[in-house]
Amino acid sequence: MKIFAETERLILRELMESDLEGMFELDSNPEVHKYLGNKPVKTKEQTKEAIQFIRQQYIDRGIGRFAAVERSSGDFIGWTGLKLNTGDKETLGDKSDFHDIGYRFIPRYWGKGYATESSVAMLDFGFKELGIDTIFGAAEIGNIASNKVLQKIGLKYVEQFLYEGEMINWYELKQEHYE
Ligand SMILES: CC(C)(COP(=O)(O)OP(=O)(O)OC[C@H]1O[C@@H](n2cnc3c(N)ncnc32)[C@H](O)[C@@H]1OP(=O)(O)O)[C@@H](O)C(=O)NCCC(=O)NCCS
Repeated sequence: MKIFAETERLILRELMESDLEGMFELDSNPEVHKYLGNKPVKTKEQTKEAIQFIRQQYIDRGIGRFAAVERSSGDFIGWTGLKLNTGDKETLGDKSDFHDIGYRFIPRYWGKGYATESSVAMLDFGFKELGIDTIFGAAEIGNIASNKVLQKIGLKYVEQFLYEGEMINWYELKQEHYE
């Protein structure tokens, strides 16, 4: 099992097939999917495929979201980190072929600063370890927590656009403006 980063309270490691139960708890929860198109998963088979898809990204794209584990409890709390969005199916409006920063946690771990803490580490990883030029972020305008996190970690608001009926705030941070 590969650990990519450690923060004060979290371990950020590769997502594994053994994270199935935690990932299913995460992605079957409608509250979690409120600002993600309202399509929570229904079956563990869907979750299994999602885990395999992320693990394949590690191989094909050199990066993918990482599992976040709470140090104090050892609990899987969700995922965080970077994704290379690529190809025709992974566009967002007119945006294509971009690295974005994202996070998704089981609700009982919300409100503890974990998205901020993990994202700070992931920006560092993206710019310093991977040498990414620009890291982007997207959040529905109603997703106050996510917008706050993106702003707190230093991404700059660029523009708004409509995507699948929802208004999206689009942010970016260039390596030259990092630290
Ligand atoms: C978005 C998400 C990852 C945030 O995780 P988190 O660990 O609770 O975030 P943090 O604690 O680091 O920061 C959230 C900030 O938003 C604030 N916040 C959260 N909900 C808020 C609300 N309804 N109104 C105002 N502020 C709010 C928090 O107070 C905190 O700000 P602060 O540090 O200045 O107090 C979590 O809510 C989640 O998993 N949501 C479902 C998936 C999702 O929407 N992902 C993002 C898609 S763009």
